[in-house]
Amino acid sequence: MEQSGKHLTEVLAPYKDERGAIIPLLQKVQETFGYLSEEAISQIAKFFKVSESEVFGVATFYAQFRFTRPAEHCVKVCLGTACHVRGGQQILEAVRRDLGLESGSTTTDYKFGVERVACFGSCALAPVMVVDDRVYGRLTPTKIKETLDKYR
Ligand code: FES
Repeated sequence: MEQSGKHLTEVLAPYKDERGAIIPLLQKVQETFGYLSEEAISQIAKFFKVSESEVFGVATFYAQFRFTRPAEHCVKVCLGTACHVRGGQQILEAVRRDLGLESGSTTTDYKFGVERVACFGSCALAPVMVVDDRVYGRLTPTKIKETLDKYR
């Protein structure tokens, strides 16, 4: 998902002379790169000959826009009541340990992002973790490595 200047320029090109097209363009940039980087905001501002804060102001008004790079795989660990009483916290700790996450929620290579959630509605399978769209239930900390290895 490299955001080289050249590639971004290609995304911008069709919007030339369409000064009202800032939102469709922001959507296109996010669709292409997964988020709106500082570099993208800056180039869009230059492209439309407006200030960066103007572009940023428009983008932050809409909840659909993201400003941080998303990870390739999203790992959600459930800490709802059923999962919590069956060891959800230890699952979360095992995930973080396996991914080497001492702080933060995204690995430095952007391969994995970790979130905690309240309940997936799969309490019978507690403790539960979801990787992308796949549900893993009845987990133990020792199963975490082999589960995450499938995504490496
Ligand atoms: S509490 Fe974890 S799935 Fe419901």
